[in-house]
Amino acid sequence: MWSFHLVTAILAVSLVSAKELRNLGTEEREIPEGLKLGVATASFQIEGGWDAADKSPSIWDVHSHIPGKIEDGTDGNDTCKSYEYYQRDINMLKFLGVDFYRFSISWPRVLPHGYANKISKEGIGYYSDLVDGLLANGIQPIVTMFHWDLPQVLQDLGGWANPEIAVWFEDYARVLYEALGDRVKIWITMNEPKQFLIFGYGTTRFAPDIISAGTGDYLAVKNMLIAHARAWHLYDKEFRETQKGICGITIATDFREGATNSPDDIELGNLVMDFEVGFYSHPIFSKTGGFPERMIKRIAEKSAEQGFPRSRLPELSQDEINFIRGTSDFYGFNHYSTRFYTTKGYERGMYPIPSYDDDIGAVSDYGIYKEAPIRHTTKIPNGMRKALNWVKDNYDNPEVFITENGYGTLGGKNDVDRIDYYKDYINSVLDAIEVDGCNITYYTAWSLMDNFEWDSGLSAKFGLFEVDFDDEMRTRRPRHSAIWYRNLIATRKLAFTDETHVEEIWF
Ligand SMILES: *[C@@H]1O[C@H](CO)[C@@H](O)[C@H](O)[C@H]1NC(C)=O
Ligand SMILES: *[C@@H]1O[C@H](CO)[C@@H](O)[C@H](O)[C@H]1NC(C)=O
Repeated sequence: MWSFHLVTAILAVSLVSAKELRNLGTEEREIPEGLKLGVATASFQIEGGWDAADKSPSIWDVHSHIPGKIEDGTDGNDTCKSYEYYQRDINMLKFLGVDFYRFSISWPRVLPHGYANKISKEGIGYYSDLVDGLLANGIQPIVTMFHWDLPQVLQDLGGWANPEIAVWFEDYARVLYEALGDRVKIWITMNEPKQFLIFGYGTTRFAPDIISAGTGDYLAVKNMLIAHARAWHLYDKEFRETQKGICGITIATDFREGATNSPDDIELGNLVMDFEVGFYSHPIFSKTGGFPERMIKRIAEKSAEQGFPRSRLPELSQDEINFIRGTSDFYGFNHYSTRFYTTKGYERGMYPIPSYDDDIGAVSDYGIYKEAPIRHTTKIPNGMRKALNWVKDNYDNPEVFITENGYGTLGGKNDVDRIDYYKDYINSVLDAIEVDGCNITYYTAWSLMDNFEWDSGLSAKFGLFEVDFDDEMRTRRPRHSAIWYRNLIATRKLAFTDETHVEEIWF
């Protein structure tokens, strides 16, 4: 059996100055009692075992096997080998002392045919053992049902562009509730719809690599919303009473604002928030339901200009609006950074016509902020507070689970920049809770360990733990940020110290 290894060497490491916290007039800040702390991963990014037992290929297996699709030429065949070594993941979680672990389930591992006619014993057994292992160690499982690895067999029928997917997804959800719902009490149906639908059906960036920009991607969003709602209604009607859990959705809620304070730019910021976030959140969390009005109007206008006989944005019938509205027991909130938008410098033809980007019709950047090595994690902590307030103000202060927040680097064990990022973002979360009255109950660091970062492959590093991908055992070592987060959890204080001790330890 593998357990973790500890040697006695203690390294004193200079971390960050306490300057910023002192500027706030305090040396440390208490983590509010109601806020649980954890980490997250996703199946395709960590499991490997891509053809283990009777698992069928997912769209990301297929995509990453096409030469040239992944920037660094790696694939997801093995990644961290968590399918084999999950016990070591649990040991790492114990070492951190987390309250919970958010992971996702691979649909083609559980249902190799895509449909619920055949449940893989090995596949469901793997997740059942993982859940048992977590609970035995006092770690609460939070389970994402879909984190992008759709069975390829369902993609062959159109995937999210086929309205039948809502039924296939509901059947899959039932399998999961029945097999794991006695122990899993927090379900997340989908992770980040924009990323898997707009990038997946409107660009070549993400699987399934279908370019149906401004039409197929929008259709896929409608189908996803109905699939999500079906899974929620199923839980609500048939499982909630006996299993006593909750079910919701996670939406990428990066902040978008106008580049200046001019009325036009402010309105542009509102429009972009509707495209980027409201497209998914408004139908579920708003009082009226349905897609955001600004978006409906903009896409209708553009579609007419382009000679389409009707808007490219599919309509939701009043029945569909009612069916989708109110179908999340919490707001799952992923956040990494903020972008600033302007129409200055935007020219027709800059983006494909039609497309999501052309419908927005603006350009954006990170403003005055220094771009991070992984750009979409550029540190702009106040943007997180603004995004949390956007959710609070638009949706009547729902309970928010921060289901992802983190910083990407290109490697190295001494990750002062990552600690700096966490420190400032968590500080911003505490402001949102204590000053603004946002109702935030979970905070999740992305990610437990380095993993397969989609189109960037294995080169983009998000881990609190560094993974040695050249080593058969995929040895994991805590980065400085892991020790920092561990201290945060142990003391429940957001503190700035000039040095910390890194134990030489590996898993
Ligand atoms: C991953 O699997 C595919 C399909 O079998 C294979 O072509 C590819 O070489 C494998 N990748 C590695 C790194 O072995
Ligand atoms: C936060 O949300 C939960 C669930 O809706 C609710 O029970 C609780 O009262 C809310 N807390 C605050 C401070 O609004």
